Amino acid sequence: MPSPLQGVGVVLPVLAAPMAGDPGTRALVGAAASVGSLGFLAAGYKTAEALATNIAAVRSSVSTFGVNLFAPNSLPVDGDDFRRYRQAIRVEADRYGIDLGAGEPLDDDDQWRAKVDLLVADPVPVVSFTFGLPEPAVVTALRAAGTLVVQTVTSVDEAVAAAASGADVLAVQASAAGGHSGTLTPGIRPPSVALTELVAAVRNAVSLPIIAAGGLATAGDVAAVVHAGADAVMVGTALLRTDEAGTVPAHRAALADPAARGTVVTRAFTGRFARSLRNDFIDRYDAIAPAGYPAIHHLTTPLRRAAAAAGDAERLHLWAGTGYRSAADGAAGTVLVRLAERL
Ligand SMILES: Cc1cc2nc3c(=O)[nH]c(=O)nc-3n(C[C@H](O)[C@H](O)[C@H](O)COP(=O)(O)O)c2cc1C
Repeated sequence: MPSPLQGVGVVLPVLAAPMAGDPGTRALVGAAASVGSLGFLAAGYKTAEALATNIAAVRSSVSTFGVNLFAPNSLPVDGDDFRRYRQAIRVEADRYGIDLGAGEPLDDDDQWRAKVDLLVADPVPVVSFTFGLPEPAVVTALRAAGTLVVQTVTSVDEAVAAAASGADVLAVQASAAGGHSGTLTPGIRPPSVALTELVAAVRNAVSLPIIAAGGLATAGDVAAVVHAGADAVMVGTALLRTDEAGTVPAHRAALADPAARGTVVTRAFTGRFARSLRNDFIDRYDAIAPAGYPAIHHLTTPLRRAAAAAGDAERLHLWAGTGYRSAADGAAGTVLVRLAERL
């Protein structure tokens, strides 16, 4: 267990990963804290104002928690590719009477500056970054405010760069992970590397504490990755079916469906590589989906919202790591404690 995490009061080395969108809730952060673990409010896709509201609400009952931000690292989409993709998926949107419009691709930075300003002005115990490396001045300001800074990395090179940027702790994420890869080079498909190998390689190259994530499904998996050199682990998929997660019913059901067709890494939903349960949308569009984040994310959002509301798992991003078959229902705290049983 990395001493910096102990320093902020974390005693259970199995952490609850940040999950933007519906699954990551304040209740999940509370459930993690209640068993001595650490949960993260996922700031991604939220306004800075909504983040502030969430922080205030969590603070009223939880003293140790983190906030996770998407650091800017946009992957601009080619205009022609964007229009071709929009035309291709129009037939899916038509089913829900959704107009995908004719406008230009939307590239935004998820209110980066406003969120950083908020976290510097009103510090929280832990801040983690994914997708990009923040400028060193941001890391310096957060650390000066007393915040522990965690950086997601997916390779040894990224770990070295994160250490140079001033991060306190690395979240080392393997491609088995559910949801978006935190890769710093989003135009390149994340290579498939076993988490134990990746952790061992990062351990050799960088002396920062390591939180390992990606595909961890059992107490045996957790013990193996700690044996390989991780100080703590973080799980997302293992929590998706728990009581406290906000996972929409179609996603929950798909995770538990014995007929589920495994997971794939795709950019069909957002233009950035992410691991999802395989479904019809991926089968139809993965091969032609262009790189382009967040433009493709914004393009498909109304369709995915409508699919979620209709309980249509075939047109929904079903983020899941490779261990999804072990994802249990019940209390999130119980799941986290069980995963630590062999440490
Ligand atoms: C539904 C979902 C949403 C996610 N959203 C985020 C996010 O907002 N920020 C982030 O850093 N990681 C995000 N991740 C990745 C997790 O932080 C973590 O790396 C991953 O869940 C670990 O792999 P596992 O799902 O196999 O446990 C997400 C994962 C899932 C499953």
